[in-house]
Amino acid sequence: MEQYIIKGGTPLHGEVVIGGAKNAALGILAAAIMTDETVTIENLPNVWDINVVLQAISDIGAYVNRIGKHEVKINSSKIQNSAIDYENIRKIRASYYLLGALLGKYKKAHVTLPGGCNIGSRPIDQHIKGFEALGAEVKIEHGMIIAEAERLIGNHIYLDMASVGATINITLAACMAEGKTIIENAAKEPHVVDVANFLNSMGANIKGAGTDVIRIKGVNKLHASEYSIIPDQIEAGTFMLAAAATKGDVLIHAVIPKHLEAITAKLVEMGCYVEEFDDAIRVINTQGKRLGHTHVKTLTYPGFPTDMQPQISTLLALSEGTSVVTESIFENRFKYVDELSRMGAKIKVEGNTAIIDGVEKFTGAVVSAPDLRAGAALVTAGLAAEGFTTVDHIEYIERGYEEFEKKMSRLGASMIKTDVEDEKAVQRFRLKVG
Ligand code: UD1
Repeated sequence: MEQYIIKGGTPLHGEVVIGGAKNAALGILAAAIMTDETVTIENLPNVWDINVVLQAISDIGAYVNRIGKHEVKINSSKIQNSAIDYENIRKIRASYYLLGALLGKYKKAHVTLPGGCNIGSRPIDQHIKGFEALGAEVKIEHGMIIAEAERLIGNHIYLDMASVGATINITLAACMAEGKTIIENAAKEPHVVDVANFLNSMGANIKGAGTDVIRIKGVNKLHASEYSIIPDQIEAGTFMLAAAATKGDVLIHAVIPKHLEAITAKLVEMGCYVEEFDDAIRVINTQGKRLGHTHVKTLTYPGFPTDMQPQISTLLALSEGTSVVTESIFENRFKYVDELSRMGAKIKVEGNTAIIDGVEKFTGAVVSAPDLRAGAALVTAGLAAEGFTTVDHIEYIERGYEEFEKKMSRLGASMIKTDVEDEKAVQRFRLKVG
């Protein structure tokens, strides 16, 4: 098992380049198996979740040619099997996209029930409702979801909540169904649009992605495509808030500033300076005074993303005054608060609300990442804290952040990744940074 050791207190300075969006890539890799022709996907993030999906599709017969760290060619003409039960696939949430993709193309899919970060109950009833509306029979047996159809026929589907996963999954299945499908109350997140754009580049006919009504005309066949994945909104947002929390000045490249507006707006409200360029954003918090408080409620896009909630709460815990953060998407997303309290944060959680009394500083401690985004928030806290912080269970963080410690170190952070058993490496680091 590995851990990060951080010596906090150094403001982040410099430039960082953001990778491709993990959550878009997960949908796009599933979509890639829906054609017999070769697809080339660029700007693929090299993170754990992505590598698990590549392994899973290769296990069922897809030819996966990893050209470089961030590019892959996939040819799925030899897929023999529509059953996916690869051990690691159970651990990732987006395994469910293989269900929509296999059902759409082969009218048959057996996929193990999804896992993913433990941030609350994560049912998939809306996905199943959508598949059934298209004519599939869906059952759960021995931990597997089994979806099968003689024919898939387009339908009118109203989602009870604007679920990202259900919107993408139903889009995958419907784009090779007969006739027209309309998804109402669809999710509008940038990665929903990216998956739809990729499918359209393969010959699908999807209109309205990015609005709450998506219209799909089924096609018989999808074809080859070359596609570059959009930048990761959450990785970018994490660096924005880390720059602010460490009182730094960071220019973040390869971003779409529009996708970051909810985060930018909160930073500006708190008194931080944010400069937007065409494909970069600069966060400057070097004025020397503490940022102010604000209130945040997580919402579906274009609202404030739930995947940035732990990071903004961490920043607010260092800001002046009392802030209220309401989590309205997942009910169990404040598990990191106990860890943050060990570093000196003053946060009281009541139901889905955190009441945060800002403190002047955090002090380093040994903390444990409870999930992916909360893990990134604890690293941010460690970077801002006085003294040394150890963050363990970083396997969660590595599911979604590529070379996190290297990117932070290039910005001036004193941070290393070591094996938890490697006491010598820890000592060497402590001696080096003092
Ligand atoms: C995706 C993202 C995740 C992000 C979340 C919200 C991926 C792989 N993961 O997760 O990082 O935090 O969107 O932006 O893209 N729900 C149901 N029934 C369903 C589906 C969802 O009740 O069938 C509920 C969930 O419990 C949750 C809410 O709807 O409360 C939103 O979930 P959803 O948008 O589906 O999130 P995920 O696709 O799981």
